[in-house]
Amino acid sequence: MNWDHVFASRTSRMKASEIRELLKLLDQPDIISFAGGIPDPAFFPAAEFQSAISDILTGPRAEAALQYSVSEGYKPLRDWIAGQMARIGVPCDADNILITSGSQQALDYLGKLMLSPRDTALVGWPTYLGALGAFNAYEPEYDRLDPRGNRSAADYAQTAQAKGGRVKFAYMSVDFANPTGETLDAATRQTMLTLADDLDIAIIEDAAYQSLRFDGDAVPPILAMEIEQKGSIEACRTLYCGSFSKTLAPGLRVGWICGAKEVISRLVLMKQAADLHSSTLNQMAIADVAGKIFDEHVARIRTAYRARRDAMLAALTQHMPAGVEWTRPEGGMFVWITLPKGMNGADLLAKSLKTQRVAFVPGSAFFADGSGTNTIRLSFSRADEATIGEGIKRLGALLRG
Ligand SMILES: Cc1ncc(COP(=O)(O)O)c(C=O)c1O
Repeated sequence: MNWDHVFASRTSRMKASEIRELLKLLDQPDIISFAGGIPDPAFFPAAEFQSAISDILTGPRAEAALQYSVSEGYKPLRDWIAGQMARIGVPCDADNILITSGSQQALDYLGKLMLSPRDTALVGWPTYLGALGAFNAYEPEYDRLDPRGNRSAADYAQTAQAKGGRVKFAYMSVDFANPTGETLDAATRQTMLTLADDLDIAIIEDAAYQSLRFDGDAVPPILAMEIEQKGSIEACRTLYCGSFSKTLAPGLRVGWICGAKEVISRLVLMKQAADLHSSTLNQMAIADVAGKIFDEHVARIRTAYRARRDAMLAALTQHMPAGVEWTRPEGGMFVWITLPKGMNGADLLAKSLKTQRVAFVPGSAFFADGSGTNTIRLSFSRADEATIGEGIKRLGALLRG
C-alpha cells in the first residue's frame, strides 16, 4: 500500500535523520563514542531497584502496583517531588505535579496543550533536538529565542502573526543545556520572564540536567524566581519539567511537570486520553529508591561525571588546533564545539568514523532551521577519562588534517 495519502499532515516532519543512520555504527566495539547524551549504566542503582521492586511485589502494594491507577501519578512520589521542588525555591504541593513517562512526554503534552498549527514556539538556536521532535507533531513555526533580550516582544509577536499564528511559549533547557552545556544566569532568566510577561506566553523550563551541577553556584529555577515575584505558583506562567533519567535511571521513564493547578488539571485530562497513567510499578520503585538514596547517589555520579568533564576539557586544550572553540559546562553531559567557519560537522563525522573511529553529533541537528553546520556536540558521560583523552586526541589529529 502507498500510505502517503493516509498519513496525517503532521507526520511530514517526522523524518529519520541521516545522522541517526550514521550513529547506528556506534555498536561497533572499536568506536569511541561522544555521541549519545545518556547516563553511564555503571552508575545505575540496580541493586536498590531490585530490592525496591521485590518489596513492592511481595508486600501490600502489589495489587496497586499492577492495577490501573490515577492519571496524576503515584501520590507518595508526587509528595516527594513537591518536597524536592520546595528545596529549590518552588513551594508547591502534590496537585502541582503531574507524573509523566519521562520529561520527553512532558514536552509532547505541552506542545499538544498549547500549539495549534502555525503557532510559534520560541526555541534556542541550537536547542534540544527531542523538543523539536515533540513539538513538530503539532505543526508549529519556530522563531529564534534571543535569551539576552536583544529583540522586543512586539518583534516576536509580529513575526508570529506574519506566519499565521501567535507565540505560545518559550522553551529553554536551562542548566547545562543539551546541546551546548551552557547555563542561563539569573539575569538572563529574569529577562526571559519579563519577555514572557510582555508577550503573555508560557515558559517551558526544561530542567533535565539540573541536579548534575559539578561546580559554581546553583542558579534558581525560572519558576522559583517567578514565584518570588508573583507570590504563588498558581500565578505563574512557567511550567517546570523534571526527570529522573539523568539521576536514577532513564529506562523506568519517570519525569514530571510542575506548575499551576489550572494547567496541571488540563494535562491530567490529556494524560487520561493518551496513556491513562505512567507505569505505577516504576513510579513506586522510583519513589522508594529516591526516598532512600537520592542525595548520596547524585553526589556520587556528580563526582564521576565531573572527572570526565575535566578530562574532556583538558584534552581539548591539549589537542585542538587554533580556531576551534568550546564551552566549559559547570555540569551535565555536554561540551559544544564551534569549528572554524566553512567546516561541516556532518562531513567531519563521516570522516571521523572512517579514519579515527570517533563519534559525536553534528550540531546542525539542534537548529530548527538546520544552520550551525560548523558545530558539533560532544558528550562526556559514557567514556572513562583515558578513553576521553584518546578520543579527543584522535579528533584533534583529524582537525589538524
Ligand atoms: C534537555 C532534555 N530534555 C528532556 C530529555 C528527555 O529525557 P527523559 O524523557 O528521559 O526525561 C532529554 C534527554 O536526553 C534532554 O536532554
